Amino acid sequence: SRVLRPVATVAFQNGAKNFSTSPEMQFKVMVAGASGGIGQPLSLLLKMNPLVSNLALYDIAPVTPGVAADLSHMDFPAKVLGYKGPEELPNAIAGSHVVVIPAGVPRKPGMTRDDLFNVNASIVRDLAQCIAVHAPKAIICIITNPVNSMVPIASEVMKKNGVYDPNRILGVTTLDVVRSCTFIGAINGIDPRSVSIPVIGGHSGVTIIPLLSQCKPAVQLQEQGKIEALTKRIQEAGTEVVKAKAGGGSATLSMAWSGAKFTNSVLRGLKGDDNVVECAYMKSDLTEASYFANPVQFGKNGVAKNLGYGKLNAYEEKLLNAALPELKKNIAKGVEFVSK
Ligand code: NAI
Repeated sequence: SRVLRPVATVAFQNGAKNFSTSPEMQFKVMVAGASGGIGQPLSLLLKMNPLVSNLALYDIAPVTPGVAADLSHMDFPAKVLGYKGPEELPNAIAGSHVVVIPAGVPRKPGMTRDDLFNVNASIVRDLAQCIAVHAPKAIICIITNPVNSMVPIASEVMKKNGVYDPNRILGVTTLDVVRSCTFIGAINGIDPRSVSIPVIGGHSGVTIIPLLSQCKPAVQLQEQGKIEALTKRIQEAGTEVVKAKAGGGSATLSMAWSGAKFTNSVLRGLKGDDNVVECAYMKSDLTEASYFANPVQFGKNGVAKNLGYGKLNAYEEKLLNAALPELKKNIAKGVEFVSK
């Protein structure tokens, strides 16, 4: 259920000065790729999160200490430190409860997420290696595309280091859910925050499967043709933004919001809140794909319970069957990259 309140709304309603810093459990969050299009607004939203006591901003870009100095002037309690370049990475990671990774290159028009593999795979592999050594218990939230392959890459690196815990390595597919809620809110003429819908599978094209039949409240569309058009729009919504930005990158602001929302849920789980549920892409035995996204419940050790995806209608079964070969291919590519 959608009981979660957006952290930024909570922050604004309460007013920064009303935060108590001591009684609440607080956590260190590290952002890798913090100076990028996603990283900067994501870090801003995390700075505003009352569950965050320490925010470590890591990037290879020279501007990173400046981004940290800038955010450190915001009147919220979280301490912000900037770390630039690989030699500062161990200090950025050490003691982190959560590591969020939006490091890497984004798409340009005409590119698929898979086209990013070659550059981003080594970035995620090297970050995971450092996390395995300096914060092996951190919950890793991977935003970098292709998410379908990056989660297997981080997992294989953890395995090699003997610190693998599938409940702590998560692909962030929240933007697919956020977009679904927004589009359905507009169709139904209601506040998108009151819409709840599972989006399962993976995070690219046909692997994105919005379960419109399980949407609450029900989607106000009767014709199958319209259901299919909405499904396609959700699957291709990222490309809508890539085209509109005309070479200037992919979704950053809606992704920053989605990443902050996901991280907030992970933190609420760590803190011990009950019934914190988000869709996440993770190790799975629900289908023939060894990683799969669907609703999961967070707890003190990352994912506490995989909630599965319930009953699919005939159309959704068809979508799942179309997604699985692509998903399996993406997963195999990630696994192979680390074993090379
Ligand atoms: P960007 O290019 O604006 O920022 C990426 C940042 O990563 C840059 O500041 C860069 O210096 C940094 N970086 C590069 N190599 C690094 C390394 N080895 N260590 C640390 N930082 C490093 O890109 P943007 O738009 O922020 O996108 C980032 C990633 O997020 C892309 O792969 C993109 O495809 C993905 N993405 C994922 C979404 C999702 O739903 N999961 C949605 C939108 C984008």
